[in-house]
Amino acid sequence: MARSKIACLHFRPETILDTPPLCTEDDIRDLVETFYGKVRSDALLGPVFNGMVHDWDEHLTRLSDFWSAVLLGTRRFAGMPMPTHVAMPNLSAALFERWLALFGQTTAALPNRPMADAAMQMAQRMARSLWYGYQLSRDPSLPLAELRPATPPH
Ligand code: HEM
Repeated sequence: MARSKIACLHFRPETILDTPPLCTEDDIRDLVETFYGKVRSDALLGPVFNGMVHDWDEHLTRLSDFWSAVLLGTRRFAGMPMPTHVAMPNLSAALFERWLALFGQTTAALPNRPMADAAMQMAQRMARSLWYGYQLSRDPSLPLAELRPATPPH
């Protein structure tokens, strides 16, 4: 791919349109720390994450980079979420739905509503895509199961 096209994939609309950024890096770090705090102590997700994540500082930094790339258009994240999740044993719709419920609880409490809405929308799209990819990687002949829509925060 030509260099100019690669650059286009990472442009920051707010620098061109001169609009303020959606949020700060501190807002993102807060979101990530609050969300994974809930995940770690959750009865369903806690054991899954605590069994796989051995360095939480590193994980929180990596996920802050991910959300910075998504919400601010920065280039810091260089991971591969699909193969990373496809390689995990025993993921299920219930786990993805719980992940989304906790993320929804976290974003519901954010004072920055545009950031909260953008983050939730992206989380829903990513969860659906990762869950589709996961199912296809296991048995592409089976019909794809959908995630149930998130219920209001509780
Ligand atoms: C069932 C739900 C999920 C579970 C159990 C899960 C679990 C995990 C775990 C354990 C890791 C760390 C892997 C490692 O360090 O080797 C990870 C990485 C990651 N997760 Fe998830 N995750 C889930 C859903 C999601 C969703 C919905 C998103 C996006 C909105 C997401 C984004 C990421 C990203 C960006 C990484 C880093 C990937 C990389 O560095 O290549 N995860 N996840």
